[in-house]
Amino acid sequence: MSDAGILKAKILVVSTTASKDPSTDASGGILTNVFETEGAGKWKVEEVKIVGDDVLEIQRNVTAWTDGENAVNLIISTGGTGFAVSDTTPEAITPLLHKQAPGLVHGMLAASLAVTPFALMSRPVAGVRNKTIIVTLPGSPKGAKENLQSILKLLPHACSQAAGADSRALHAGGIKKLEKDAGVGGSSTKASNSHNHNHLHSHGHSHGHGHGHSHGHSMPVRHTNVSENPKSNDPSLGPSRRNRSSPYPMLSVDDALKLIEEHTPSPQVIKAKVDGGLVGSVLAEDVTATEAVPAYRASIVDGYAVIAPTDGASSKGTFPVASISHATPGEIEPLEAGQITRITTGAPLPPGANSVVMVEDTVLKTLTDDGAEEKEVEILAEDVKEGENIREIGSDIKTGEVILKKGEEISAVGGELGLLASVGRAEVSIFKKPVIGVLSTGDEIVEHSRPGGLKLGEVRDCNRPTITSAIRGWGFDVVDLGIARDKPGALEETLRDALRKVDVIITSGGVSMGELDLLKPTIERSLGGTIHFGRVSMKPGKPTTFATVPVKDNSGNRVNKVIFSLPGNPVSAVVTLHLFVLPSLHHFSGVSPAGLPRISVVLEHEFRLDPQRPEYHRAIVTMNRNGLVTASSTGGQRSSKVGSLKSANALLCMPAGKETLPHGTRVDALLMGHIRSGLTDPIPFPNPN
Ligand SMILES: *[C@@H]1O[C@H](CO)[C@@H](O)[C@H](O)[C@H]1NC(C)=O
Ligand SMILES: *[C@@H]1O[C@H](CO)[C@@H](O)[C@H](O)[C@H]1NC(C)=O
Ligand SMILES: *[C@@H]1O[C@H](CO)[C@@H](O)[C@H](O)[C@H]1NC(C)=O
Ligand SMILES: *[C@@H]1O[C@H](CO)[C@@H](O)[C@H](O)[C@H]1NC(C)=O
Repeated sequence: MSDAGILKAKILVVSTTASKDPSTDASGGILTNVFETEGAGKWKVEEVKIVGDDVLEIQRNVTAWTDGENAVNLIISTGGTGFAVSDTTPEAITPLLHKQAPGLVHGMLAASLAVTPFALMSRPVAGVRNKTIIVTLPGSPKGAKENLQSILKLLPHACSQAAGADSRALHAGGIKKLEKDAGVGGSSTKASNSHNHNHLHSHGHSHGHGHGHSHGHSMPVRHTNVSENPKSNDPSLGPSRRNRSSPYPMLSVDDALKLIEEHTPSPQVIKAKVDGGLVGSVLAEDVTATEAVPAYRASIVDGYAVIAPTDGASSKGTFPVASISHATPGEIEPLEAGQITRITTGAPLPPGANSVVMVEDTVLKTLTDDGAEEKEVEILAEDVKEGENIREIGSDIKTGEVILKKGEEISAVGGELGLLASVGRAEVSIFKKPVIGVLSTGDEIVEHSRPGGLKLGEVRDCNRPTITSAIRGWGFDVVDLGIARDKPGALEETLRDALRKVDVIITSGGVSMGELDLLKPTIERSLGGTIHFGRVSMKPGKPTTFATVPVKDNSGNRVNKVIFSLPGNPVSAVVTLHLFVLPSLHHFSGVSPAGLPRISVVLEHEFRLDPQRPEYHRAIVTMNRNGLVTASSTGGQRSSKVGSLKSANALLCMPAGKETLPHGTRVDALLMGHIRSGLTDPIPFPNPN
């Protein structure tokens, strides 16, 4: 029946309208095209025929194609499968079938149903007559196309069997081989789900199914597997079935910091120009000097370059001034015995000279005839020795000497840049600094600058500007990701987009136990990420979350991107930003030690401890005249109290406990800003006597 393995198909368009005006039919052409472009070269569509919604006409045409010598392998009908009075295709086809094929019907309905509930409004039938498979598709071009696509890969096998091919031979390779030949997924539930997904996604199921009903659903599109064990609530289960307690274990701050160190990606090495842009970067190479500093023998005083006697003779005498050496580049005449050269500080010694006599040790003897220049100068010093007042070549930096080590940071003070510049380095290897995206989440959040008053429930976004400026202050580039709304699709889209642009995403808001906490489920269930911790035993900042998401970078390599989700209330957000995000950014960019510097301070007043959790208390740290560094609280420490951060320059590390620490107790402080000076008048220089 089939030549060279090519299967013959015919398409019957059932439509009274199209039977009168064939130009109104779109389905015939679209279905033909599906066979040609997606049929893997296995199909030949021999005919497309249009008939009216008439049982007898349908039946006569179908049997003409199934009974007799020229029977085809497959008949596809389109149209007449709905509930209207005129819809009669199933009634026409069913009596013709020798065998029913409910599996094909089920497959088509399931595929359509994943797209729209209106799939249930179609009444497809499928089966075998003689050696021909017959399948009825809906009338809408889009619905017909989707239905055909959902079964197309399996049809060749069904047709071969119906045409009488030896079933033993067909199944010789087992189900796996059949699946492979058909190009469909594995037989496990998981794999066939993913097949369904790919299939549906590939033809844009979100644009309406074409039954004349629109259904603007926005299903999250999965591109990755759900990570091993998502702990987060499934948002689709609704508030009544969410977990009443957080599934994330409560970690200590130290354990949380260990996980951050472990899971923050290692720094990448890049080349960078030696200029101000290097400040805050860490060197990824040992830098050796390729030039000596100074590069020539130079005078360290204003005076006269001389040839000092090496035989113990007196250096005194009156000498002609043969030439002048300024600290400007150029050739200098060699110095001959019995002559001297006037020389300025930093200028190169003339060849032949071996010492410099300070101008203070000389007297001008005679002038040139025009009176403008020195002719002869008397050296008063008796015992000028070789090498006096000279900076030797390489006395600051020798060629080949390591001037800066891998891991050293280029500070804003300028010392490191100065060194690199002095040896003529134009480029160095450094660790790439991560780019950070800052996002706020929540339907209640409005731009901080929005004019007009707030509506009930609205909150101005103070976290994004605060976090952004802190990160810029640390010397990192920030991308403003705006405000994401509390809708699963919106948040996922924002995060996916951000993961393409930045290395670290910092979100704030939406991390408590609230019903609308979509972030954890989105990270775990939609982005295939891992939540390394979701709760930390500390005050404030308990719900801080740290996650990584695997993505492909521009070169196709798998890299991890980092997501920090900070609490929504402003004080907690800033405290956890300093405590957790900064160390991660430091690991990312090779800065060591990572995190805020820790110093020991003395309490200026008594402090009540929190009985349950260690507290990071906002404080002002001041250095007094006697060198003692003291700390005082910035006042009310409630985590929503924005004012408690004003002028704070440190976080005091207070242990959990029932007692009150007395005034004078020593505790650790993490410095967020400069230590304040407690001095009111200038420090006098110590008396040198
Ligand atoms: C098929 O349908 C057409 C159009 O309705 C009709 O003219 C024709 O006779 C039918 N073919 C057969 C073989 O009955
Ligand atoms: C197809 O089936 C019909 C009805 O069952 C029968 O009359 C006819 O002979 C068959 N034709 C072939 C070629 O098998
Ligand atoms: C998804 O899971 C399958 C089967 O476990 C695995 O082969 C595949 O690599 C996973 N894909 C991703 C993106 O992790
Ligand atoms: C609630 O948490 C438990 C323990 O982590 C987990 O087994 C269960 O699946 C969670 N329930 C829901 C609805 O997420």
